[in-house]
Amino acid sequence: MNVDLLIHSAAQVVTCASPDGPKRGKAMRDPGLIPDGAVAITGGKIVEAGPSADLRARCTASQEIDASGKVVCPGFVDPHTHVVYAGDRVSEFEQRLGGATYMEIMQAGGGIASTMRAVRQASEEELLAQSRQRVEEMLRLGTTTLEIKTGYGLDVENELKMLRVISGLQQALPVDIVPTFLGAHAYPPEFQGDHEGYLELIVAEMLPAAAEWYAKSPFPRQGKSFYCDVFCEAGVFDLEQSRVVLEAGRAMGLRPKLHADEFESLGGVSLALEMSAVSVDHLDVTQPGELRALAGSDTVGVVLPVVNFHLGSDKFADARGLIDAGGVLALATDINPGSAPCPSMPLAMAIACRFQRLMPAEVLNAATINAAYAVGMGRKLGSIEPGKQADLLVLDMPDYRHLVYEIGVNRVETVIKNGMVV
Ligand code: NIG
Ligand code: FE
Repeated sequence: MNVDLLIHSAAQVVTCASPDGPKRGKAMRDPGLIPDGAVAITGGKIVEAGPSADLRARCTASQEIDASGKVVCPGFVDPHTHVVYAGDRVSEFEQRLGGATYMEIMQAGGGIASTMRAVRQASEEELLAQSRQRVEEMLRLGTTTLEIKTGYGLDVENELKMLRVISGLQQALPVDIVPTFLGAHAYPPEFQGDHEGYLELIVAEMLPAAAEWYAKSPFPRQGKSFYCDVFCEAGVFDLEQSRVVLEAGRAMGLRPKLHADEFESLGGVSLALEMSAVSVDHLDVTQPGELRALAGSDTVGVVLPVVNFHLGSDKFADARGLIDAGGVLALATDINPGSAPCPSMPLAMAIACRFQRLMPAEVLNAATINAAYAVGMGRKLGSIEPGKQADLLVLDMPDYRHLVYEIGVNRVETVIKNGMVV
């Protein structure tokens, strides 16, 4: 058979294959290994993965990559990011090292509000340029698909500016982006004494403007949904306010997602389940009963261990419990200037192994196939299976477990997006 690209002689092809939906329970321990493997690609799609000798005998390829001594795996999917932002919060980082907490800094007018000021001040071009550098870094670290949230504009004009930057990144870079509206990330200063007024603004103006942006954006044609997320947290958006925003979003075609249980448990997981959210994210302090209910649902639990690491907290989400109870677990970086200034999925995976007692195969599945399901793209990408989009990585290592064993290095040698080396 004639193919465009044949990657062959890999020490391991790690497929993360899961033809019947996301991986749960014991299936998470299976990385889908093909020793001495090869992958054949045509028209940007995977044709076949199998033993190298077999594929080399049957394929004539226009281009070949010899992956001897290396690992081939799916491109990483980062299903929870705030990568569009301006400026940094390095001074707040130092304040926290001196003893202030994330929530204290936020309540004193810093935190999300300080990034909001930087985003409002930045021109669209500046915001795009700064964000682009970070997404390029993510790509070098192996992320080929990522979700991006708004939530630092917090008024109609600046939330729309963030959405246009998200389209700009999609146009400029060889990655797949899935957009999420997070107008309910914090209350902006102009609504500090009028939270109901801000909710009204979200429902009456921001969401309709966001829905209109999406309809004209490239994302519907790419088969990508538009999501609506809320920071459901004590002192931010409570359960009822979260419900109002998610329901209004859903009425305008935005599918629900939720930040829940990062610091305090308000019942956000139950709300996410009631609304059949595609994912519910953070889960650091989720009650055992809600975790069991999540495990029995199709909602993906997304954990963000870089946040715990960066905040110096040992309250990691019970990812082990979620897998063992049969739930769908995914991993993300949460890249943002306050709680996770980190573009690296391998670092998120390495922390999850050490502090959440996950196995290398489990974190790899959580960072690829299950992460793809957390952004509604699991049927199209996230694993090395015939018919799927050819998003893959060549890793300079003899065994995939080095991905999480070694820390602080980047072993991603080649990134292939849609069948093209980038
Ligand atoms: O996921 N928790 C809310 N949002 C982000 C933090 C955003 C920020 O601090 O700028 C998070 O951790
Ligand atoms: Fe977040």
